Amino acid sequence: MSPDSNAPRFRVRPPANWINDPNGPFRWGDRYHLFYQHNPNAPVHADIHWGHASSPDLARWRHHPIALTPTPGGPDEAGCWSGCVVDDGGVPTAVYTGIDHHHSGLGTVCLARAADPADPALNEWKPLPAPVVPGPPDGLDVVMFRDPFVFRHAGRRWALVGAGHADGRPSVLLYDCADLTDWRFAGVLLDGDDPVAMDTLGDKAVGWECPQLLETPQGEWVLVVSLWDGDPRTTGYLTGGLERSPEHGLRFTPRTGGPLDHGRDFYAPAVLQEPERALMWGWSWESRGPGGAERAGWAGVLTAPRVVDVHADGTLRVLPAPELNTLRAAEPFLTVPGTGTDTGAGTRLPDAYDLAVTARTVTTVGLGEGLTLRIDPTAGTLTVRRTGRPAPVEVRVPRGAELSVRVLVDGSLYEVFADDRAVVTERVYRAPGGAPELTVTGTGATVTAWELVGPTLN
Ligand code: FRU
Repeated sequence: MSPDSNAPRFRVRPPANWINDPNGPFRWGDRYHLFYQHNPNAPVHADIHWGHASSPDLARWRHHPIALTPTPGGPDEAGCWSGCVVDDGGVPTAVYTGIDHHHSGLGTVCLARAADPADPALNEWKPLPAPVVPGPPDGLDVVMFRDPFVFRHAGRRWALVGAGHADGRPSVLLYDCADLTDWRFAGVLLDGDDPVAMDTLGDKAVGWECPQLLETPQGEWVLVVSLWDGDPRTTGYLTGGLERSPEHGLRFTPRTGGPLDHGRDFYAPAVLQEPERALMWGWSWESRGPGGAERAGWAGVLTAPRVVDVHADGTLRVLPAPELNTLRAAEPFLTVPGTGTDTGAGTRLPDAYDLAVTARTVTTVGLGEGLTLRIDPTAGTLTVRRTGRPAPVEVRVPRGAELSVRVLVDGSLYEVFADDRAVVTERVYRAPGGAPELTVTGTGATVTAWELVGPTLN
């Protein structure tokens, strides 16, 4: 059988079958651990376990045994849904959504502890028999409740849980969980009626899934939510201040916000707060016709890790993690020097590559048949046109003399970064035996492209 050129080989995904959200990115000893929503038996969303991978450097990953498995008769018997991993007094602890046999949108908060914290592989996890939060708080008409996210504010531990209410309002609920086995509801951190949220995220969502929070080195806070309207749709961020409040525990005051990713194939990101930076991975779902995943035997992939921060005006700053540069081959397969109209036309594109282009005039970059970028520095626009999708994605950035775009491609996963301002995640599939070629038109563009080289995820 010929290798599947649509299958990503460097980004995190299971050996086969289904993956959705990244869960619990976590640093333990000298490795990064990353978990994910996983059905090990079919390329469809059902019977969700937690898959597990780890990496010493954020670039090269290896598989571990499945970390969490639904317990028959337990609070997670219908699924171990999304959550996070925290260091609880020296014991790595997964804090996740238990879905029981009723299989409703109302989850519980469950814990599972690493069986041997001294094992750097964290291969074995032991679930607690009963949830630490049996369901949503009373009196708020909560109809969707899931995805605990534990964080620290001023040294104290808190948690967010994603929610939706009977009147169609999404919200993020706040818990005090200084003791991880004794959670106290501390109020609604934010809901869809907030004017900044309304203005920047729109009013379509009936639930906010997978809330995440990060603190920038400047002490600003970014709240990330996944917008759910009965189906997963898109993601958004809000930048603001987070302060202690006597009656609410914590008060989040958003000042601005917007889409977290401008592409059509990005959802449910998970954040890892490091001392000096915050990293983020998202889930990229399949976007091919019905039956495609069944035939391929796999569905979904996680994005490359991104460094997330904010600009002085509160808008999102997002860049690929610098560690990804170590996947580049020693020599680029293409260099266009930016001195004339040399376009690199006809260069065959490998299955996985990293391409950097700096445009000084209107420049188009064709990445095979499937995707074309139009970069206009003077207008401050990046337009991503995907074959078969009538509406292009247009991203606006500040106008300037040049505009740099970085493209990370791994099989069918395309992540396009417009400077450090915006990212567009799209899935583009190659026809079997297809040999896509690069085309560049535009005077004065500098282009460098490297093939990604192994070892790949194994
Ligand atoms: C987001 C999500 C989460 C849930 C998980 C289930 O994609 O719906 O809200 O916990 O996926 O797999």
